[in-house]
Amino acid sequence: MSEGIDLPRVARGVLLPEAERLARFDAAAPQILAAVDGERDPIVVQATLASLLWETLSQSSWVGFYRRVGARKLSVGPYQGPMGCLHIAFERGVCGACARTGEVQLVPDVAAFADHIACDDATRSELVVPVFGGGAVQAVLDFDSHLPAAFGANEAARITSLLARAFDARIVWPGWE
Ligand code: SME
Repeated sequence: MSEGIDLPRVARGVLLPEAERLARFDAAAPQILAAVDGERDPIVVQATLASLLWETLSQSSWVGFYRRVGARKLSVGPYQGPMGCLHIAFERGVCGACARTGEVQLVPDVAAFADHIACDDATRSELVVPVFGGGAVQAVLDFDSHLPAAFGANEAARITSLLARAFDARIVWPGWE
């Protein structure tokens, strides 16, 4: 599995119809889980997922993790795309809202989310999904797109279930101050 996953090639930055996106995700998910099978290091799993989900969700302009490094602080982790913000407090932005509440944040129009942090001015929509370990939020996975409403609730549910399996009890989390 060192050469990535087997998926049809599609142009980046194009929003496929939802049924095609879900079929693409369902084809990718078992391959992604196989790629990280048995891996216990969260950074190894995060880096691999960032790469493979970037390939899978081709409407994304940024895909990556913010890791919990403090009681109320996130720092950037493995990602694909242009440079992201380095640190995000729990009190700030869509990622902070996800870390704070432990709930998926689906934002079809970032202009309507008062506290959205614009790392990239061209971002129009965003999806942030929490990653749990030991009953606490250990990271969040952020998807951005230059297209409005680029992510849907069905995609969010599938990503939630993939993350629960990719980051199960075998993962050794570093803990935080
Ligand atoms: N938009 C995010 C910040 C992270 S970057 O876009 C990569 C937020 O509001 O939390």
